[in-house]
Amino acid sequence: MVQPRPVRVFAVSSGKGGVGKTNVSVNLGVCLNELGHHVALMDADMGLANVDVLLGLQPKYNLSHLLSGERSLEEIIVEGPGGLKVVPGSSGLQRMSELTVGEQAGVIRAFSEIGSDIDVLIVDTAAGISGSVVNFARACQEIFLVVCDEPTSMTDAYAFIKLLNRDYGVFRFQILANMVPDERQGLALYTKLCKVTDRYLDVALNYLGAIPQDDYLKKSVQRQGPVSLLYPQSKSAQAFRALARKAEALPMSDAVSGRLEFFVERMIEYSSAAAL
Ligand SMILES: Nc1ncnc2c1ncn2[C@@H]1O[C@H](COP(=O)(O)OP(=O)(O)O)[C@@H](O)[C@H]1O
Ligand SMILES: [Mg+2]
Repeated sequence: MVQPRPVRVFAVSSGKGGVGKTNVSVNLGVCLNELGHHVALMDADMGLANVDVLLGLQPKYNLSHLLSGERSLEEIIVEGPGGLKVVPGSSGLQRMSELTVGEQAGVIRAFSEIGSDIDVLIVDTAAGISGSVVNFARACQEIFLVVCDEPTSMTDAYAFIKLLNRDYGVFRFQILANMVPDERQGLALYTKLCKVTDRYLDVALNYLGAIPQDDYLKKSVQRQGPVSLLYPQSKSAQAFRALARKAEALPMSDAVSGRLEFFVERMIEYSSAAAL
């Protein structure tokens, strides 16, 4: 049997909605693909501007069809721009906790099968700190926390870090500043967040850099495509390419990081525990 490549699973989260999670997820995915990775993006954000809208995709099936056994994972995956594979989420995600043991085994098997084709899974989570968001985030190896220069973004990011740290022992977070006027402002946001966490929590925040406020990104949203493909020379596209290089260089710190089914096993375990 061919040994599957180690898979990395990144969650893209934020406390507050509308800070750029879906754009970050999509463009990070596209740029990692360009670097030669095989990337899948799981849409776990049921918000309005979700991944399929942003990419102009119209998936026929979603995760709920996989869970019910009607469709295979290969059938629900849609090919996005630049070869990005998209796993449409939908309401199926809420059903994770209600699966029978047999269904759980089916989902785990499904993911272990695509595990050999991909080496990065990006999970675009919903905003907020609800149970399912927290479960997704802590099932991943790294949490990319997107913040922008708004008081509610910062306080919600802090609340997110605090909850995951105090209740679930997560201590490492990757901070990404978005919609900032320049590099300096991005770093200032990171420093501000560190000041509060250093004082009250025992966590390590790593700075991933900043994505500038960019009208080309807005234009690309209107054109339903990723800015990194539609406007590759724009400031934000350049920043996304730099982000992808940083993301691929992150050390693989999880001892069990090699298998994708591990992420799904964790998801099921956490959501089942929450349902008890
Ligand atoms: N770097 C940026 N520059 C300009 N506008 C941005 C940027 N990032 C996000 N936006 C704006 O914010 C909106 C919400 O982004 P989105 O990725 O859908 O956020 P979320 O997934 O966190 O709700 C986008 O449609 C876009 O108009
Ligand atoms: Mg979103």
